[in-house]
Amino acid sequence: MINVALPKGRLGDKVYEKLAAAGYECEDLLDKKSRRLVFENAARGVRYFCVKPTDVPVYVERGAADVGIAGRDILLEYEPDVYELLDLGIGRCRMCIAGRRGFYDDTDRPLRVATKFPRIARSYYEGKGRDIDIIKLHGSIELAPILDLSDVICDIVETGSTLKENDLVVLEEVEPISARFIANKISWQFKHDAVAAMRNALAAETEDGR
Ligand code: PRP
Repeated sequence: MINVALPKGRLGDKVYEKLAAAGYECEDLLDKKSRRLVFENAARGVRYFCVKPTDVPVYVERGAADVGIAGRDILLEYEPDVYELLDLGIGRCRMCIAGRRGFYDDTDRPLRVATKFPRIARSYYEGKGRDIDIIKLHGSIELAPILDLSDVICDIVETGSTLKENDLVVLEEVEPISARFIANKISWQFKHDAVAAMRNALAAETEDGR
């Protein structure tokens, strides 16, 4: 049995479609009303755990799940000790610095950066030699520059509509992001055939562009 940490929400739906196409379907997962967190298809030898996207690396790193699917943003932020085996090419978006249109950076003082991703923001600005003051938030990051809580934000931009509807613009691009298939290091050793088979089936789906 291979245990999969599946991110809940927008990304999870797309990820599950890909896993099902790759032969790891589990019909019960499609029941949106269900509050269950564990789903199993014994015939296919797969068990899914539905977890918060930011928690996927925790389950995989500690071996509660053999494999998982996590956004590159989460992997860059938490740097879990896992193997990254495949870029699934879905959940594509960009990590960006955004702010008000025409924003002017006053380099005489630290730049106030609101973000859910302090490590990514810190490392980006370290690379530029810019001193910053991190304001850690957990959501609705776009509010921060509007209320002058921060000068800019470091956040995910997918369609760009959240920025647009809040009169903000992308100022700089930090990293392209997409979903990655990750594996626990011990599972990669001891369940190698099962993990490699899942990775290869997903790779075949990804290469087909489906
Ligand atoms: C993410 C991100 C942006 C938004 C970007 O937030 O933090 O706010 O999506 O998507 P868009 O470019 O397509 O508008 P999420 O929906 O995860 O909610 P949050 O504000 O609670 O973090």
